Amino acid sequence: MIGIIGAMDVEVQDLIGLMPERVSETVSGIIYHRGAVEGIECVVARCGIGKVAAAVCAQTMILRYHPAALLNVGVAGGTGAGVKIGDIVISSSLVQHDMDTSALGDEKGFLSGPNIIHIPASRRLADQAVAASKSVYQPEKIHTGVIATGDQFIGDSERLGRIADEFGASACEMEGGSIAQVCYLNGTEFVVIRAISDNANEQAAVDFTEFAGRSARELTELVKNLLPRI
Ligand code: ADE
Repeated sequence: MIGIIGAMDVEVQDLIGLMPERVSETVSGIIYHRGAVEGIECVVARCGIGKVAAAVCAQTMILRYHPAALLNVGVAGGTGAGVKIGDIVISSSLVQHDMDTSALGDEKGFLSGPNIIHIPASRRLADQAVAASKSVYQPEKIHTGVIATGDQFIGDSERLGRIADEFGASACEMEGGSIAQVCYLNGTEFVVIRAISDNANEQAAVDFTEFAGRSARELTELVKNLLPRI
């Protein structure tokens, strides 16, 4: 069983549509759809936006369905030079850019508990995601890098610059780092795959509205290619 989490309908609706004989169950307000995608048993859920919603969903999925691996798919703001709208970023690691106990002497992003800043994604899954992306995206559109998560939609070049500099991030979004932490605590293999919908700058809200749907739908093709490889 493979778990797939997206925050918004547009990020998971095509995948759910690919499960004709699905069984659905609601837990804590989140609907979990079980069925086969491309012949692979999956559980797919739309968690809602932000770190708490994502953590609730990931933990429930792990306890209830015991997925062998968890994928977080969706859109993100591109933070790095050369990461453009329509590109994809596959996680090497996740950081929570809004986790800040620096007033107590910690480094920014430090996660007490795991006692690390960067939660590494599965190298195996990331490599398979890169391989699966090659038939969907041009090579220059495929990136691997740090993905930064926080409970903020970033639409400000200065804030974006700080996130990119402090954490070496290629993309910013609002769930991946929290799903990563839940997976880390449970020993569940995971990778985050994000299609870029905007550049997290002053133009971000307009670009997000225009491109999120298309970017998310393109990603479904990648996930279809990836599932048989896991
Ligand atoms: N998801 C898509 N674009 C984003 C942005 N600019 N900030 C946070 N999450 C996003």
